[in-house]
Amino acid sequence: MSSPPIHPSAALRAPTILVFDSGLGGLSVFRELARTRPDARFVYAADDAGFPYGARSEDDLVARVLAVMDALVARLAPDAVVIACNTASTLVLPALRARYSIPFVGTVPAIKPACEGSLTKQVSVLATPGTVKRDYTQALIRDFAGACRVTLVGSTRLAGLAEAAMVGEKVADEEFAAEIAPAFVREGKSRTDTVVLACTHYPLVLDRLQKVAPWPVRWVDPAPAIARRLSSLLGPVAFAASPAPLRLFSTGQPLDAALIERIVGRRARAGELVPMTAPA
Ligand code: DGL
Repeated sequence: MSSPPIHPSAALRAPTILVFDSGLGGLSVFRELARTRPDARFVYAADDAGFPYGARSEDDLVARVLAVMDALVARLAPDAVVIACNTASTLVLPALRARYSIPFVGTVPAIKPACEGSLTKQVSVLATPGTVKRDYTQALIRDFAGACRVTLVGSTRLAGLAEAAMVGEKVADEEFAAEIAPAFVREGKSRTDTVVLACTHYPLVLDRLQKVAPWPVRWVDPAPAIARRLSSLLGPVAFAASPAPLRLFSTGQPLDAALIERIVGRRARAGELVPMTAPA
């Protein structure tokens, strides 16, 4: 069933879409959203002063995301918000939906499509330690794994390595290899054939992960499905003479407009790199 457009005047003005993550990882979702919806006005917000979310306790993370979101929603009045972070989505979505009357699109481990497509019935979920601990993730396995054996791998370092690599720091192949090794499981003649990228930072370094993988697998990136979901909420693509400019918020270091343009193909204008006060 297709949803009605989120805003009755969507044809008259570009809807404002807020894309949120703890850092650069949400850009792997954002690049797909930007491709799918050239008519939308995007704001990307990184709570990089709060990074990494994967290491935070659940109570702390709920409080943190709500505090940052309060400030963003008050300032931007977005038409929809995409939580481009598995660690936050698998925990905070119910609280966000209860608090605001705007639609929230989440990013959660793509266990269903991964298990449906696995031939060896051995699937690994590569995520942060927070995401692998969630009841929500356990429920996805219970409801959608079917005959698959699912191995959960919570990496403490991989999101940070991805951030470092994206900003141009040298990260050795061995460091990536050590983080993904537990996702490659061999049992008798059968072995893992599918790895779910269940942290939005990981698709940004997919070429590095493919290079060091012990054997080829199908890597499942949820971004296209999230873009389809947002697009169905927005309704038909409106004519846009040129893509709307992008605004970038961060609670820590200002985001690098050139890096973001390389990843998503949209440039923030001078004055649109906006610092935000981090919650205490
Ligand atoms: N990008 C985030 C995710 O999808 C997590 C990174 C972090 O630990 O902050 O889970």
